[in-house]
Amino acid sequence: MRKQTDPRSNATPDNAMDAHTGHREIDPVTGHDINDHDWNGIRELNTPFPKIVTWALIVTFIYSLIAWILLPAWPVGRDYTRGVLGLDQGEMAIEKFQAIGAGRSDWMAKFASDDFAMLQNDDQLMVQAMPAADRLFKDNCAACHANDGGGGPGFPALNDGDWLWGGDPADIAETLHIGINAANDDTRWAEMPPFDWMARSERMALADYVVALGRGTADGNAPEAQVFVDNCSACHGETGKGGMMIGAPSLTDASVIYGQDHDTVMQTLRHGRQSVMPAWSNRLSDAEINLLAVYVAQMSSPEAEVNE
Ligand code: HEC
Ligand code: HEC
Repeated sequence: MRKQTDPRSNATPDNAMDAHTGHREIDPVTGHDINDHDWNGIRELNTPFPKIVTWALIVTFIYSLIAWILLPAWPVGRDYTRGVLGLDQGEMAIEKFQAIGAGRSDWMAKFASDDFAMLQNDDQLMVQAMPAADRLFKDNCAACHANDGGGGPGFPALNDGDWLWGGDPADIAETLHIGINAANDDTRWAEMPPFDWMARSERMALADYVVALGRGTADGNAPEAQVFVDNCSACHGETGKGGMMIGAPSLTDASVIYGQDHDTVMQTLRHGRQSVMPAWSNRLSDAEINLLAVYVAQMSSPEAEVNE
């Protein structure tokens, strides 16, 4: 019998399980014990911890013991326990990488040759090489020239067929080797000098003329045309067509580096321009440079098969 002083005696119905007497109340539907607590009339089953969970814990614990023995597991100072199997994902990755390199070296070796016509006419070689070239371009060049070679303000488009230094693979390879205004002894040199000494009003009129040049509406008899010939033609050519292999772009076509609207041209005239294309000869192998040269040359050709 329960003592009268038992604090649970008020809350607990007579037939609830009692820890002291061992009296159990069984739920008739499930056959489980009913918990001895009463939440304002709501009772709860006292179900046992599921066996499957117990077994899952045992199995995972045993697995972890085996894994500790077989695989790299515990840090030890600057080192770690290597496990009986001696597996190392870092080494595995390097091996895989070397295997890819070995598979590639077969065709990559062909790009050590400067005979670009031969390379470009080898269809099977192109199929193998262009996806790799695409990756190389995206890794090294796309940050400035954009993924599709479309360029952006300050970075020339490589896919439009308009070239500062020539669009043959050999010219492009040379540009890649030595860069433009780059830290290389033989680098291509291109500088648009500032014309800040020119009266602003004269610069304004000249800028209008340059805008008109780009649109094909320039008046060759206007006084600005003479200012252009006197000051600009040495680099951009009398008619502004460029192509003089000193990096001065044509001002008569739709492609621009910085922009050919009035404000941008005024900035160009005031401050000059001299942007840097890095030299790649100490970062990429000759074969990689030739591979990229073929790839970039194809970007602008109509029958381009650059992407797959
Ligand atoms: C840090 C930015 C930058 C990166 C990276 C870069 N370039 Fe350039 N590149 C330039 C700039 C700027 C110019 C134009 C220089 C000028 O205006 O005189 C240029 C010019 C060129 C030209 C000459 C275009 C012409 O009309 O003759 C080629 C070709 C070229 N880049 C190819 C590449 C390739 C291929 C890569 C990757 C290996 C690459 N560039 C990476 C900035 C970059
Ligand atoms: C010493 C040679 C030289 C002279 C002289 C020169 N330029 Fe240039 N100009 C360049 C070069 C090189 C560039 C390209 C610079 C670069 O990309 O970094 C350029 C770029 C430009 C651009 C930018 C084009 C674009 O696509 O965004 C404009 C505009 C321009 N020049 C106008 C002129 C005008 C107008 C004059 C005469 C007042 C002139 N230049 C005189 C060499 C010259």
